[in-house]
Amino acid sequence: MILKFSSFKIKMLKTIMRWEVFIFMSKNIKTEKPIIEVKDLTKKFNGFTAVDKVSFNIIKGDIFAFLGPNGAGKTTTIRILTTLLRPTEGKIKVNSYDPITQQDKVRKSFGIVFQDSSLDDELTAYENMKLHAVLYKIPKEDIEKRIKGLLEIVDLWGRKDGFVKTFSGGMRRRLEIARSLLHYPKIFFMDEPTLGLDAQTRNSIWEHINNLNKKYKTTIFFTTHYLEEAEKMAKTIAIIDNGKIVAKGTVKQLKKDTNTKSLEEAYLALTGKNIREENATAKDRMSMRMRQRRR
Ligand SMILES: Nc1ncnc2c1ncn2[C@@H]1O[C@H](COP(=O)(O)OP(=O)(O)O)[C@@H](O)[C@H]1O
Ligand SMILES: [Mg+2]
Repeated sequence: MILKFSSFKIKMLKTIMRWEVFIFMSKNIKTEKPIIEVKDLTKKFNGFTAVDKVSFNIIKGDIFAFLGPNGAGKTTTIRILTTLLRPTEGKIKVNSYDPITQQDKVRKSFGIVFQDSSLDDELTAYENMKLHAVLYKIPKEDIEKRIKGLLEIVDLWGRKDGFVKTFSGGMRRRLEIARSLLHYPKIFFMDEPTLGLDAQTRNSIWEHINNLNKKYKTTIFFTTHYLEEAEKMAKTIAIIDNGKIVAKGTVKQLKKDTNTKSLEEAYLALTGKNIREENATAKDRMSMRMRQRRR
C-alpha cells in the first residue's frame, strides 16, 4: 500500500514538473512582433481605390516580394509605408512606429531604392554618398568609414571618384543601394530595383542584397516583374491585383495552392492573363473592371 501510494506520488510529481517546464517554456518563447504590420490599408485617389483593405505582416529578416501587375497598388503601398503618402484608412507599423505620427523614427528605420534614379549625375560616387550621409546626420567621424565599407560591398570603391554621368545602369543601381544603406537601416525597400538591367547585373545586385540580409538580418521588401527573380530570392510573397491581396505565402505554398510548377505559372493563375496598362485613365480602369465583372 505504502509502495503504491509513493509510486502514485511520484507520478503526480512528474506530471506537475512536466507542466511547470511547459509553462516556463511557453513564457520564455518570444513571439517576435512583425517588423512591418499592415492591417486593412486603403488608399483612395479622388474616389478611385488604389489600395483596398490590404493586410500583411513581415517578420524581421524576411525577404518579402510584393508582386502584381502594373497599376496593382505596389508603389502606393510602399509610399505609404515610407511616409511619402498618407493612407485613407488602415493601421500600419514600420519597425513598431507609426508612419503618420512618428515619421522621423520610421524614416530612420528604412532605406529605399526607387525605380527612377535619384543620383546627382554631376557629382562623383563618393560625393553622392557624402551628401546623403550629411542629410541623414551620420556622425562626422563615421562617414568615411561607412562610405568605404558600403562602396566596397557593391564593388564601387575603385570608382569612387568617377562622375555618376559616366556610370552604367548597373553601377548606378549599385551606388543607389550603397547610398540608401548609409544609415544602417533595419528595413530596405526596393521598388523594381532591377528593372532594365541585364541578367549578370541583376544577379550581382541580388548577391549583395542577399549578403546584407544574411549578415545584418536586414529585412528586404521588394517589387519586381521578374518572377524567376522573386522565386529565387523571396522567402515570402504577397500578390496584389486591382488593389487587393489575392495570395500570400511562400513560393512553395503558392505553387501548391494553384497546382502549378513555377511562381510565374502560379502568378498567372492568380492574376489572369490580361495585359494591364500602367497609365490607364480612370475611365479605362472602370471599363476594364466592368469587363472583369461581366466575366
Ligand atoms: N497620385 C496619384 N493620383 C491618382 N492616381 C494614382 C496616384 N498614384 C497612383 N495612382 C493610381 O493608383 C493605382 C496604383 O498605382 P501604383 O501603386 O503606382 O501601382 P503599381 O506600383 O502596382 O504599378 C494606379 O491605377 C495608378 O494610376
Ligand atoms: Mg510601381
